[in-house]
Amino acid sequence: MLKQIAVATAIGSILLSGSLLAKTLTVGFSQIGSESGWRAAETSVAKTEAEKRGINLKISDAQQKQENQIKAVRSFIAQGVDAIFIAPVVQTGWEPVLEEARDYDIPVFLLDRGITVDDDSLYMTSVAADSVHEGEVAGNWLIDKVNGKKCNVVELQGTVGASVALDRKAGFANAIGKVSNVKIIRTQSGDFTRSKGKEVMESFIKAEDNGKNICAVYAHNDDMAIGAIQAIKEAGLKPGSDILIVSIDGVPDIFKAMIAGEANASVELTPNMAGPAFDALIAYKKDGTMPPKHITTESKFFEPADAPAQLELKKDMGY
Ligand code: AHR
Repeated sequence: MLKQIAVATAIGSILLSGSLLAKTLTVGFSQIGSESGWRAAETSVAKTEAEKRGINLKISDAQQKQENQIKAVRSFIAQGVDAIFIAPVVQTGWEPVLEEARDYDIPVFLLDRGITVDDDSLYMTSVAADSVHEGEVAGNWLIDKVNGKKCNVVELQGTVGASVALDRKAGFANAIGKVSNVKIIRTQSGDFTRSKGKEVMESFIKAEDNGKNICAVYAHNDDMAIGAIQAIKEAGLKPGSDILIVSIDGVPDIFKAMIAGEANASVELTPNMAGPAFDALIAYKKDGTMPPKHITTESKFFEPADAPAQLELKKDMGY
């Protein structure tokens, strides 16, 4: 076996998932940027997962702009990569560039966000969580927490036009639509960043009797929740008790905030989106196995009691 590997290596081949592929796979990954702690972890995990499988990974940072992502995809096509991974910043506008990739027989894999296209054969599979479910979990938690009391919620939405922002909004609305005591009184995008989350929360606090009229923050990611926590503290209120905080991602900082009593709940999004996509690519290259159209990652729900253990676990997760 060792001899086999040595020979294979010598001719420029690698052993992937137990089968010899003709050459080292090169994957171009158009990443959105580094807007959040979760995003940075996703990038770092992608590098580790590529290394584990002997894949040559080229990452292009789009700095939150779809036009940069489209340029990156065109550049990957010109370089003749074996596959293209895209974390699509917004969900529309992808057809032309995906058709170009298809013209060159380069399979496209979507990571962590979805797109809307008439022809879904333009991408091979998408690896993502069920973002509607994430929003529902957050909404159901809040309904139980307030136990029938009136609760005015302010919502910090993710990037405008991002699938996850639309779906997390819809999921939360589905959940609270079942009761009459929990209502969203203000909603605005904080673009998934800590600084924008803080800025928008400051404006909500000013508009709502210095925050006294706000019962809870629902943030589409933990970074915006952390920004909101800062704004609440600066307004002289206690996040976690005067104003409840529920968000999505499960990044280390939200667990630190839970331990400090300043955050109440988070729905975890795994940063390992690339691993399942690499495995699907390898199986496809090996014998043409087509992956399922959607590979759905698990969404675990965490509260303060889970925070110390989660904080430990996160150390091994690319954060
Ligand atoms: O698409 C996933 C979302 O993008 C994460 O929840 C958020 O932190 C990131 O910016």
